[in-house]
Amino acid sequence: MTPDIKPLVAGNWKMNGQREQLDQLALIARGASNPISEKVDIVVCPPTTLLYVATTFSEDTPLGVGAQDCHAQAGGAHTGDISAEMIKDCMAQYCIVGHSERRTDHGESDSDVYQKTLACWRAGLTAIICIGETEAEYDAGQAEAVLARQLQHSIPDGANERNTIIAYEPVWAIGTGKTPSPEDVGNIHQFLRDAVVERFQGPGERMRILYGGSVKPANAAEMMKVSNVDGALVGGASLKADDFLAICAVYSGM
Ligand code: 13P
Repeated sequence: MTPDIKPLVAGNWKMNGQREQLDQLALIARGASNPISEKVDIVVCPPTTLLYVATTFSEDTPLGVGAQDCHAQAGGAHTGDISAEMIKDCMAQYCIVGHSERRTDHGESDSDVYQKTLACWRAGLTAIICIGETEAEYDAGQAEAVLARQLQHSIPDGANERNTIIAYEPVWAIGTGKTPSPEDVGNIHQFLRDAVVERFQGPGERMRILYGGSVKPANAAEMMKVSNVDGALVGGASLKADDFLAICAVYSGM
């Protein structure tokens, strides 16, 4: 963690969840209430089909809601896409951009992610910008070079602690049960902190840098202790309220 930064734990449901999953969402909304919400911000990013109903569930609770992607344009002839303005209109507050699954499955480039981040800001959403190296890049010792490039080209000037959250997700740790050692995570997060402070000065010092990739209740505590880890982006373990709330509890220090 970083002193003076309130941690944030976000659940990315990916392409999982139909209406019956709303039971879990209701439990998360209830569990996210005081006193835990004073110590940690909690966000769920359900699939778009559940976005609006999710915000009605979270209304009057501290639970934040986000989308998993947006189009760069505000509207127009883009069949199947949704704009940041539509996400905002669903009363969501966050949007994940540049997740490695979007980069891989949809060929999204850093400049696409940059444009989507601008779209989030235009609509008044906080962008959760994902970066991370592949296993081959990690093995080749290129992780820092890859991350530096993604940071530089995915994040527009003007990023600050309110409009931007960075999520470091090593691609090889996503959904695999493998995680980097806390020492490796510490080194990478220090590298990322130095890079955002150099570029954004004060706001870079206050920006949250999340770790994501096989975060579970069992390993949350060791990651939480690592300096410059200001929360978690959780995939599979966010689908079950008990597991997700256990991770949130770890980050709350309660
Ligand atoms: P898992 O927690 O399932 O590894 O997924 C991580 C992730 O991609 C969150 O965005």
